[in-house]
Amino acid sequence: MQQHMVLVSYIEKLSNDILGFTLASATGRPLPEFQAGAHIDVHLPNGACRQYSLCNTYEKNGTYQIAVKLEPASRGGSVFLHESIAEGDILQIGSPKNLFSLDPRARHALLLAGGIGVTPILSMARHLSADGEPFTFEYFVRSREDAAFLDTLEEDPALRANTNLAIGLTPEETTSRLTEILADQVAGTHVYVCGPGPFVSAARKAAEHWSSGSVHFESFSAAEFQHTGQDEEFEVVLAKTGRTLKVRDDQTIADTLKAEGVSVETSCGQGICGTCRTEVLAGSPDHRDMILSDSEKESRAVMMVCVSRAAGGTLVLDL
Ligand code: FES
Repeated sequence: MQQHMVLVSYIEKLSNDILGFTLASATGRPLPEFQAGAHIDVHLPNGACRQYSLCNTYEKNGTYQIAVKLEPASRGGSVFLHESIAEGDILQIGSPKNLFSLDPRARHALLLAGGIGVTPILSMARHLSADGEPFTFEYFVRSREDAAFLDTLEEDPALRANTNLAIGLTPEETTSRLTEILADQVAGTHVYVCGPGPFVSAARKAAEHWSSGSVHFESFSAAEFQHTGQDEEFEVVLAKTGRTLKVRDDQTIADTLKAEGVSVETSCGQGICGTCRTEVLAGSPDHRDMILSDSEKESRAVMMVCVSRAAGGTLVLDL
């Protein structure tokens, strides 16, 4: 994956605990084009690599904008960006990847964001608004002080006209509002959901009756899918070489592959970015990611090897 050096050209406070970072090319070469919903890997000087959605829309020779929420239980990414990165610093980033793109077949986009999940959704809203495409944006926030981009949404007449704010709802009220919003699928409407794991899970559940392929989602938290400490050892067979590897109970498949010198690309390590997507040729995966749709999980044809395991027996992977 190509890397790019970027200059942190501007940092702004977007809410109580969210900072916005504007990143410009540090080399004079334009940054690669991206579509709404894309994210980038940000490689931090402390060795951490984190994924952040791009909040703006692409403009030639333009900049990238990301927004970072300070997470109390940060694994070293958000705290570092908040406390140790200043305007004028140089960072290394990867090219944009998009696993959450707008479907060109959609006749109407229903955009649902919970909290910091606004970042890719705002890029989508900006893109659709600029193209004059119909959309509705439902933005769930804890309070106005906690919400990023309220000024942006209120200052732009087209964004303001299509945005509804839900402020300070309890988890139960959020679920019930999502159920209401998603009760009926109007033909041609696609829904795009981004937010913390429980928000995305509630929206997916409320949209279970929607037609397959019309529900798109991205999650920012995989906390509910962390190791339980009760995992069991299993075997994976690498179809291209015939090698059989044991995945210990305290190891992921990706860790095992790397330890055995088998090349596998990973990024988030949490089942939320899709980088480690691997074809499954036989066996039953125990899916623990937040990326695959229910139909992809049921197909047993693909899995995220950074978090998912075997549901019993051996897995044969296309590696
Ligand atoms: S590395 Fe991100 S889903 Fe596996």
